Amino acid sequence: MILLDGKKTSEKILKKVKFNVEKTINNTGRVPHLVVIIVGENPASQIYVRNKKNTAEKIGIKSTVIEFPENVSEKNLLKKIAELNKDNDVTGILVQLPLPKHINKNNIVQAIAPQKDVDGFTPENVGKLAIGIEPYFYPATPQGIIMLLDEYKIKIEGADILVIGRSNIVGRPMSQMLINRNATVTTAHSYTKDLDDKIKTADIVISAVGKKIVRCKMVKKNSVIVDVGIFKDANGKLTGDVDFEYVSPSCEFISPVPGGVGPMTIASLMYNASKVYV
Ligand code: GUN
Repeated sequence: MILLDGKKTSEKILKKVKFNVEKTINNTGRVPHLVVIIVGENPASQIYVRNKKNTAEKIGIKSTVIEFPENVSEKNLLKKIAELNKDNDVTGILVQLPLPKHINKNNIVQAIAPQKDVDGFTPENVGKLAIGIEPYFYPATPQGIIMLLDEYKIKIEGADILVIGRSNIVGRPMSQMLINRNATVTTAHSYTKDLDDKIKTADIVISAVGKKIVRCKMVKKNSVIVDVGIFKDANGKLTGDVDFEYVSPSCEFISPVPGGVGPMTIASLMYNASKVYV
């Protein structure tokens, strides 16, 4: 069993991104500038946002965090996004999710200019991905997972890949990116029958659910298990969707939690944030 080391791989990618940022600054005189909007005080979101800001600054990307109180109106958020869309100094805009219930998330995401949508969540970028043409940006987590698979030279083309979860942030774009790479993709969700049978026969399993759901003892020989879940167990310890002790002896590659997909997501977002389209 080989660990898919997201920490090491992300450091390698960040080095390349840092180099690209320097090149962009030298060639165009423009400094990539990521603006992150955070609403309310969700502790997980606060950690993610701090992490994004610190990493951006380390590699020469300018970053600004704009904080709004929990009770901000949708109208005020939209006004801020319109301002950032017009601001020539701003090259990337990210609204940290989840948003409070009184705000329609879709209205907010749709307001972001597709050329600055570093999350790849706007209808234009999602639509381009769905029809198999290049969007301005691919969503960070699935793109980071593909970078990790590529780093370990894991063959995607022709592989039977099970994606568990169909969220807009991970599952759906993951399935589409893999189809575009010529994989045979099954997307499982809460209505899926016989999930264990599907897990046991897949060449690659990518689980993005947030529950301990991949726990069968015998997965396919030479299979690859990618764990996107990250949550605290009953003892407050960080864990993922995969029962590592059960699954790891029978697969060939497995991503740990923490230290697998998490750091890849940040590196992948930084890759996006280093691009300047406007
Ligand atoms: N919340 C959890 N993951 C993400 C992400 O990739 N982007 C944003 N904007 N919010 C998130």
